[in-house]
Amino acid sequence: MAPYVTGETPDVLAPHSTTAATATTTTIIRPAAETEEWDDGGEEISIQPPPPMSDSPPRVLIIGAGSRGRTYAEATDKVSNGLVAAVVEPDPYKRMDLGRKRIWGPQGRSEPLEGEAFADYPDFVAYEKRRRQREAAGEAVPPGVDAAFICVLDEMHRAVIEALVELGGLHIMCEKPLATTLEDCVAIYKALRDNKTNTVFSIGHVLRYSPHNVLLRKLVVEDRVIGDVLSVVHTEPVGWWHFTHSYVRGNWRRENTTAPSLLTKSCHDIDVLLWLLCSPASHKDKCQEPHMPSTVSSSGSLQLFKKSRKPVKAGAATNCLSCAAEPDCKYSAQRIYVGDELRGLGTGNMRWPVSIAVPDIEDYAVRGGADSARDVLLQKLAEDYGDETPDSDVAKRNWFGRCVFESDNDVCDEQVVVMTWQDDPLPAGDDDADASESPTADRLQHRGAKTATFHMVAHTKKICDRYTSLYGVDGEIYADQATITVEDFRTGTTTVHRPPVESKGHGGGDAGLARQFILAVDRIKNHGWEAEQAQREIIGCTLEEIIRSHAMVFCAEEARHGKTVVDWGPWWAKEVEER
Ligand SMILES: NC(=O)c1ccc[n+]([C@@H]2O[C@H](COP(=O)([O-])OP(=O)(O)OC[C@H]3O[C@@H](n4cnc5c(N)ncnc54)[C@H](O)[C@@H]3O)[C@@H](O)[C@H]2O)c1
Repeated sequence: MAPYVTGETPDVLAPHSTTAATATTTTIIRPAAETEEWDDGGEEISIQPPPPMSDSPPRVLIIGAGSRGRTYAEATDKVSNGLVAAVVEPDPYKRMDLGRKRIWGPQGRSEPLEGEAFADYPDFVAYEKRRRQREAAGEAVPPGVDAAFICVLDEMHRAVIEALVELGGLHIMCEKPLATTLEDCVAIYKALRDNKTNTVFSIGHVLRYSPHNVLLRKLVVEDRVIGDVLSVVHTEPVGWWHFTHSYVRGNWRRENTTAPSLLTKSCHDIDVLLWLLCSPASHKDKCQEPHMPSTVSSSGSLQLFKKSRKPVKAGAATNCLSCAAEPDCKYSAQRIYVGDELRGLGTGNMRWPVSIAVPDIEDYAVRGGADSARDVLLQKLAEDYGDETPDSDVAKRNWFGRCVFESDNDVCDEQVVVMTWQDDPLPAGDDDADASESPTADRLQHRGAKTATFHMVAHTKKICDRYTSLYGVDGEIYADQATITVEDFRTGTTTVHRPPVESKGHGGGDAGLARQFILAVDRIKNHGWEAEQAQREIIGCTLEEIIRSHAMVFCAEEARHGKTVVDWGPWWAKEVEER
């Protein structure tokens, strides 16, 4: 009999376990929507129907059933032509919850079959190797998976990618950032570049896939509605309490356990800027020489969430539940996680950010009612550490009740990056085919000097609702998450575009990325496409673009630490090409 959950003994799963069985067939059943990502919250939502389902739809594996793993699992069900086939997750509650909602539950089963649930990714790899051997020997085995969404924390990405590349044959979507160091990013890039198994690789740069940004890019790069871009200012407002949740108390608070906030929070904003300003106009063309910046500079620091800003009234308290200043403190953990005004339990919300503090909060509410859920949450928030606690113990978990001025956070809560481009026309003969026909054509072939300024600001009302101003030779654009306003200096006209909103997750970017990734897998699996074509035309992002935008973040960090302006060309040659 096959093991119940590969890599974990059944008694660890006692509340849910029954008998193991073996799967040999696939039935396509689409579960219903479940998370708030798909709740329209009063906004007009226009969901594209999934692409047509093939007879043998892509089967995807979710590695890490946390916040992002759940999001992509739901997106797979809702907007893609694939299906969620298996999950890897060490936390029994999260693993079973995802499986019940997306894998075996919709099939009418309360338990996983062989090959559907794993406690750790090496268990999956070992199982899959063996499954392939058995299949090759003519044994009836459960179907494998075609693709994996890697949704574990940043510092594990390299190990998981390398394990899957070594296994071979799987298409990969890895959450951003690619990895936490430049060395790891370059190593992954080289491993993927040298991997010749006809597979695609996608990165979680979801902003590229929102209908809003897709239209913005079309207007700027393809339609050239403001002509050559001269200047861009792009702002990422993180949100005053969201910042405390993720970057002061949560997963991404320390550079030495994850990475700088410019990487963990903003690498996809840097990517969007490069996508707008350097990537080829159409990914249908084979790679054309990107117009890269010539210089990079950056400033920023941890300005607010540190001891020197702690209110005097808070005294020596380090935890909100025992702090005299708590009733007046806007960062109070009770207010954020338990209260009824933000997204606390008191609003009825049992998902992010509450479920990040207590993953099985819904179970407590179902089994013991609202008071039980509240008690468990308060107990969790009361957990604290002292001077005697080893730093390694402090670092390895989140402390959501910790005073925001007494945490072990060190990542920037304010940062600016400036990239400048110089005139850089391609040598004669390589110019745009249509340059002579375009009314805005110039002798620089759209490769003229420009500047992009990125601003990550923590203390905002908006939560991640980015806004961007672009200034061009012929006009300007202001874009926020709802509208794109184009001012045309030639005609004096103002045009306001209101792109459709597909889901709340990154303005529809989560849905768009999942749809495109799985569509690419389907094209290769069922329609005879080569991976190289699917990567360019369906995923619309090449490995080179992925490494460039990540390298740009590390380059900006070097500039910030060194208080210098970095010369991009030599930096790239030394730090990436020669590494
Ligand atoms: N694209 C975006 O906009 C975006 C947004 C948020 C987070 N992220 C990234 O997504 C990734 C996941 O973030 P999250 O917020 O979902 O974190 P999370 O903590 O909610 O989820 C991570 C999950 O991985 C699981 N895990 C740990 N070890 C594992 C193992 N060996 N095998 C399988 N699973 C394991 C954890 O138990 C947890 O459930 C991170 O890299 C993060 O930076 C991307």
